[in-house]
Amino acid sequence: MLKIILCLFAFGYMGISLGEDATNKSLPIVMWHGMGDTCCFSFSLGSFRDFLINILGSNVYVKSIRIGNNVVEDYESGYFVHPNKQVENACQQIASDPKLQNGYNAIGFSQGSQFLRAVAQRCPEPRMNNLISLGGQHQGKKCVFGLPNCPSLSSKTCDKFRKMLNYAAYTSWLQDYLVQATYWHNPLKEEIYRKSSTFLSDINNELNINQTYVENLKKLNKFVLVKFSNDTIVQPIDTEWFQFYTPNQDRVIQPLAESNAAKNLGLNDLVASNTIVFLETEGNHLKFTTEWFKKNILPYLNGEI
Ligand SMILES: *[C@@H]1O[C@H](CO)[C@@H](O)[C@H](O)[C@H]1NC(C)=O
Ligand SMILES: *[C@@H]1O[C@H](CO)[C@@H](O)[C@H](O)[C@H]1NC(C)=O
Ligand SMILES: *[C@@H]1O[C@H](CO)[C@@H](O)[C@H](O)[C@H]1NC(C)=O
Repeated sequence: MLKIILCLFAFGYMGISLGEDATNKSLPIVMWHGMGDTCCFSFSLGSFRDFLINILGSNVYVKSIRIGNNVVEDYESGYFVHPNKQVENACQQIASDPKLQNGYNAIGFSQGSQFLRAVAQRCPEPRMNNLISLGGQHQGKKCVFGLPNCPSLSSKTCDKFRKMLNYAAYTSWLQDYLVQATYWHNPLKEEIYRKSSTFLSDINNELNINQTYVENLKKLNKFVLVKFSNDTIVQPIDTEWFQFYTPNQDRVIQPLAESNAAKNLGLNDLVASNTIVFLETEGNHLKFTTEWFKKNILPYLNGEI
């Protein structure tokens, strides 16, 4: 997704003026990159970190989750380290960081969003206050092998991949080997998805109901779901708002309230209490302007909300 990130930074926040100085109300921030990105390279989340410090003031502590001993391992882990392992590792990093002990806000990029949600559900201490999900795939996607490019991926290509992977993705070796297989959600094979996905159907309470997940998710102050309305990487884009197809076809989107995930994870309560916030912005995957970010996301980071 490097190219995507480059697209993102083509918006060029570098030129913006410094924000007001830190109000000291900002909680620390934990962020987690997406597939094909890294925690720290300057052309990746490294410069996003600078951007956050720019707008929140230099007092704010920003931690970018890195899985592995170095940036290269971190990059590879985005593909090849099982999400359950990655989440456990992230939980340890967060729990052992003295600067995070009074709570933090979290920002997930793409798959980093569902990983951070798993952190909230599995590791409630220290407390995650607001979770910002930028283009996350909370109900998985039907096409996990979307090419990391700026131009569009046609739905024909997606369907081709899907047919090819009909069975392969749910075999245990691929679930163990490839991160993206664990949140691949074949709309035509709901039952198989539920039973074979080794990550997503668990954190979505679709296989078994884990009441701890429901209780922990409720502890969030706000869960902000950002959907990119012109996203050609993620299909369906509705998964960025925690929605998916009505089971066993792939055209009609099921209303959130009716989905198993919503019922079993208590999402309907979170919608009713306005804990879940739905935001939409024009643009392709992870492409937003700094102006949009400052207007719509900053209030969740600077202590206003
Ligand atoms: C923020 O904290 C720093 C050091 O802890 C302090 O010097 C500064 O005055 C504080 N700023 C505000 C706006 O409270
Ligand atoms: C439910 O989730 C919690 C937190 O991850 C875990 O400790 C517990 O073992 C899970 N319970 C079941 C029945 O899987
Ligand atoms: C992006 O998507 C929105 C909503 O579907 C649409 O109205 C708009 O024309 C699209 N913009 C571009 C540049 O494709």
